[in-house]
Amino acid sequence: MATATETQTSSSTPSNVKQANLKIVDDIPIDQQIEHLIRTHRELNITRQRSENLKLKQGADHDGAKLLPEASRKRLEDGGVDLSKGYPELPNRDEIPVFVDQAYAIRDYDVPFVDRGSQADPEKKALFGAAKEVIHLTDKVGTEIVGLQLEDLTDQQKDELALLIAERVVVFFRDQKLSPQTQWNLGDYYGNIEVHPQAPHVTGLPGATVIWNDYKIKQGLDLNFNNINFGNWDSVRHPAIGNNVWHTDLVHERQPAGYTHLHLDAIPETGGDTMWISNYAAYDKLSDEFKKFLDGKKAVYVSAHSYLNRKDPLGGPKKVERIHPLVRTHPATGWKYLSVNRVMTTRILGLSPIESDMVLNFLFDVCEKNADIQVRFKWTNTKPGYGTSAIWDNRVSQHRNVWDHEGKSPRHGTRVTSLAEIPYFDPESKSQREALGLPLKKWDA
Ligand SMILES: [Fe+2]
Repeated sequence: MATATETQTSSSTPSNVKQANLKIVDDIPIDQQIEHLIRTHRELNITRQRSENLKLKQGADHDGAKLLPEASRKRLEDGGVDLSKGYPELPNRDEIPVFVDQAYAIRDYDVPFVDRGSQADPEKKALFGAAKEVIHLTDKVGTEIVGLQLEDLTDQQKDELALLIAERVVVFFRDQKLSPQTQWNLGDYYGNIEVHPQAPHVTGLPGATVIWNDYKIKQGLDLNFNNINFGNWDSVRHPAIGNNVWHTDLVHERQPAGYTHLHLDAIPETGGDTMWISNYAAYDKLSDEFKKFLDGKKAVYVSAHSYLNRKDPLGGPKKVERIHPLVRTHPATGWKYLSVNRVMTTRILGLSPIESDMVLNFLFDVCEKNADIQVRFKWTNTKPGYGTSAIWDNRVSQHRNVWDHEGKSPRHGTRVTSLAEIPYFDPESKSQREALGLPLKKWDA
């Protein structure tokens, strides 16, 4: 049992401050006391991003359930989610990491992974043969499949879909009758489902993350017309608010995100689009000499959320950092791709900090300023209970939300992320354009 010593209140304490019996427990380590304080005091919300100082609850939220758009409510109820328990469900504060070592410990082990796309028919006859239409939305990125229900796909079609996503970066399906559980099952087929330690999820279904900015705004997220894009200028001084900054999900993981599935069941009439960048095409924008310089380099990738250093708890926020190859090889397509994003790629190993910043900022610009390697997708509303799905490969892409509807009409969905392989670089692999035999400019040749 801990012994407590009572401190003397200072004679200089201002008279308007209530005198309290401050107690310091001598024989409990300071990190444990800090952890206890953070877990028991909602106002000490230090583990979240600075801009997301939300007053999130824990457990299933009965007030949240009342805010659900009708179309979403119908989908969730049709899908067997018991909303009487509350919605969404938030992780208990006891389970949210306080110290960065606790965040590292989550999934800090190898998980076997075989990319379903690597065993698929390259012609995708089962998938394309059953679809009514296959529409390429741009030349480099984004394909829409018409006339298929995701819940009805055979394993062969799922494998072919994985390869199509890996090649086209993102694939869309409108008018889908898809329960959160069926979405979860598809994600489970594609890899190791990520259970987010902080984000709200569908009640009773960890791993089905709720994407619902309207709910976060109710909890205090300061998202508005004026600040929405600040992170696209300087993501260090002005961290991302919501998901409106170009980013890739979960790059700090030991096995980062692969196939990722967002299903929106409430969609604004106008606005709320999502954009994607092809990281294969970004790599192919570079000269041969510059590709050679980057090939084999490694970089530091950080988490979106911040934690504390146990050995220096008052030293400020700390992120999970993992080192992975800067240029990687995709296991299903075999193509090389550039792995950077402005928010979470912080340093290239072996370069001075100034050199690293210069190269990274150039690479961010290559991705963000080349409109021909991007797609912007307009989600569409269908009948209540139905929604639209986007499945993208986080390995070979960046994405961002466009919050132009300013919450005037509701936007709600669920996301399931399948974690993939430990990233690797095969020096024998080719870029997408090399593999496809497409022309590449030879500078000064
Ligand atoms: Fe994201």
